Amino acid sequence: MTKQSWKAGTLLNPEPPVLVSCGTMAAPNLLTIGWTGTICTQPCMVSISVRPERFSHHLIEESGCFVINLPTENLVRAVDWCGVRSGREHDKFAEMGLHAEASTVLEGCPVLAESPLNLECRVTQKIPLGTHDLFLAEVVGVDVDESLIDEAGKLCLSRAHLIVYSHGDYLALGRKLGSFGYSVRKKPHKR
Ligand SMILES: Cc1cc2nc3c(=O)[nH]c(=O)nc-3n(C[C@H](O)[C@H](O)[C@H](O)COP(=O)(O)O)c2cc1C
Repeated sequence: MTKQSWKAGTLLNPEPPVLVSCGTMAAPNLLTIGWTGTICTQPCMVSISVRPERFSHHLIEESGCFVINLPTENLVRAVDWCGVRSGREHDKFAEMGLHAEASTVLEGCPVLAESPLNLECRVTQKIPLGTHDLFLAEVVGVDVDESLIDEAGKLCLSRAHLIVYSHGDYLALGRKLGSFGYSVRKKPHKR
């Protein structure tokens, strides 16, 4: 490889383009967030990076909670639309034909009914970074659609048909290349 040296850029790829729901059940809002991360196992924590000028920013700041809704292939249009339209001018749930349902653990925070896996998050810290504020949050509840759970009670996330975002494009997940730990797993003896 012959590499060029470029100036600093946010090129970490691919991104999980999640639909974050926030606000109240009476006035729910959705926005698309690419800059989200898993940051701690115990306590179970995630982060989202939100520009202060987003309508959702003050909703999250005021309520102290939000829900990360994992998007499926069926939701790809909503992922894009909710990421280019603001809740200041639009009722995104109504205009996208989506439904808000009450969260299980958080009080009054809307969950996206059409997403099969929802992480209910309570904000623990807001860290202003520059263009974006980083919200750190504890996951206080997880809602999983039963269609993703097998007879043994195991989560089968591959059934969800999740999407990724890479360099401006929304993509379906590709073919499986391996599973956790496969590189060190002993091969079964041939007889
Ligand atoms: C794929 C994608 C990823 C995005 N990621 C972020 C992000 O990480 N942080 C952010 O503040 N805005 C992000 N946006 C932009 C917001 O979703 C967008 O400005 C939205 O209209 C804000 O809605 P609101 O004004 O109702 O809060 C993203 C948009 C798209 C399409």
